[in-house]
Amino acid sequence: MARDPNHVLIFDTTLRDGEQSPGCSMTTQEKLSMAHALEDLGVDILEAGFAMASEGDFAAIATITQAIRKPRICSLARAKREDIDMAARSLEHADRARIHVFLASSDLHLEYKLKMTRQQALDQAAESVRQARSLCDDVEFSPEDATRSDRDFLVEIVRVAIEAGATTINMPDTVGYTTPEEYGKMFREVRERIPAVDAQGIILSSHCHDDLGLAVANSLAAVSAGARQVECTVNGIGERAGNASVEEIAAALFVRADHYHAHTSLNLKKLYPTSQTLGQLITFGPSPNKAIVGANAFAHESGIHQHGMLANPLCYEIMTPESVGASKTQLVLGKHSGRAALRNRLEQLGYTVDREELQQIYYRFVALADRKKNIYDQDLIGLLPQQIRDR
Ligand code: KIV
Ligand code: ZN
Repeated sequence: MARDPNHVLIFDTTLRDGEQSPGCSMTTQEKLSMAHALEDLGVDILEAGFAMASEGDFAAIATITQAIRKPRICSLARAKREDIDMAARSLEHADRARIHVFLASSDLHLEYKLKMTRQQALDQAAESVRQARSLCDDVEFSPEDATRSDRDFLVEIVRVAIEAGATTINMPDTVGYTTPEEYGKMFREVRERIPAVDAQGIILSSHCHDDLGLAVANSLAAVSAGARQVECTVNGIGERAGNASVEEIAAALFVRADHYHAHTSLNLKKLYPTSQTLGQLITFGPSPNKAIVGANAFAHESGIHQHGMLANPLCYEIMTPESVGASKTQLVLGKHSGRAALRNRLEQLGYTVDREELQQIYYRFVALADRKKNIYDQDLIGLLPQQIRDR
């Protein structure tokens, strides 16, 4: 069946790049719970781990391949014979498997980390992809540190990997250095200079880190430039400042479909529950002001905003909390709130007040809110004159 040209594959790396960051490690059972949540969310490819990294990682990948059927399961390998063999073994029980081979392509990494010449890197990339293809029909190749690599050399190593049989080419912004304009340009250039990409239906993939807070913007720029796979993690967890967040990418492609003209097959209503599941498995949840899944993502405190929200939620919300599986919009009462929100909350609590009564209660409420960070329903009831409470 022909591929839908506007469909963007979601490659989730929560259990690999996400898990390899401080406070995020998971046991095999925890990884399995998360894999079920990711399957429910509808990710297309699930990178389950780095088989050679540890026995635990190998066991987690093998366990996931036996329990998870819908997404393709991917295992990461350095461009080394023993890593690739181990990745293939970890995937033995997968219905649909992918081996993901990576090798750095920037001079910095070649010289200081790998102590290798460019020619040696080209040879090793070709040999590793060939080996991986002999073991698995779906092979992804990543030139690590692509965004700081010499552009001609990057094009050359990508060409070599495609000739050796890679079916997906991922160009990672390993250290979160690039900008949306630069990253988009890189994808356009690779497509233009290597006609085989489009001719053979090779999927180009983005993989962005958030060191400058640009991971999501860069991923979306790659989509605009023709990338049809985005690598991302739940809550944006990952090395250092993290990876691009799946919630933000999915919501941006959905809310701004008019702009991106691309879509994923995620079940958006599972975004919030999946984020919560991860928060319970690792040592931290999303920050309160995190887009889409943070506790404040659909909370409004200022009087002007609350008034607008009560008149028409579209005034201050570009998507409903229900559309991403979060519970209702919250009008949080605090010192910035106005009378409209106060009246609304009192009505929800069963108290109808007239204009004059509302005014009196409002003065007492503002005085309390100046002293107290959180105003609970009990605090509000405590502000009501006895005759209102008795009604
Ligand atoms: O950030 C990176 O370069 C990676 C690769 C292994 C794809 O995680
Ligand atoms: Zn990464």
